[in-house]
Amino acid sequence: MVKNTWILLVASYLVYSIVINVLIHDNNTSPLTKEVRQGWDLWQNKNCQACHQLYGLGGYMGPDLTNAASTIGKGTIEALLKSGTSRMPDFHLKQEEIDRIYSFLEWVDKTGKTRVDPKDVHWTGTYIIRQDG
Ligand code: HEC
Repeated sequence: MVKNTWILLVASYLVYSIVINVLIHDNNTSPLTKEVRQGWDLWQNKNCQACHQLYGLGGYMGPDLTNAASTIGKGTIEALLKSGTSRMPDFHLKQEEIDRIYSFLEWVDKTGKTRVDPKDVHWTGTYIIRQDG
């Protein structure tokens, strides 16, 4: 009896794992490349999160950067990271470090949206959920 229960549990786990990993797995997510990981490390080591949010979470001194890659663009982000501003420190980053951070921000950009499009807000202030995405 106990043996059968174990066989059932193991079999269920295998079926579950195959369904989750092979059949349902979303192949459209952007890959977490080595460069993206290195950018993520820099993001953590330089403590960017202290002043910036990703997905709405983080410090509030600077803006949310979830969609910075698609809204501000590489040129502006690079210039900002190269010299800082009066309110954002200059981290003296090397060009390759800036490229890595940008890759990380580009990856984050593809994984979520934080700014609600004004056309998705009803005049009563309610968020309009569209089926067609
Ligand atoms: C001490 C707080 C602080 C830290 C730490 C910080 N930033 Fe900023 N950042 C700011 C502020 C404030 C702004 C807005 C620009 C301004 O007002 O000067 C900004 C702007 C930016 C922008 C442009 C955003 C926009 O919408 O214009 C990017 C990109 C950015 N920071 C990336 C980073 C990265 C990457 C790091 C970590 C390496 C970092 N920041 C660390 C404060 C900070």
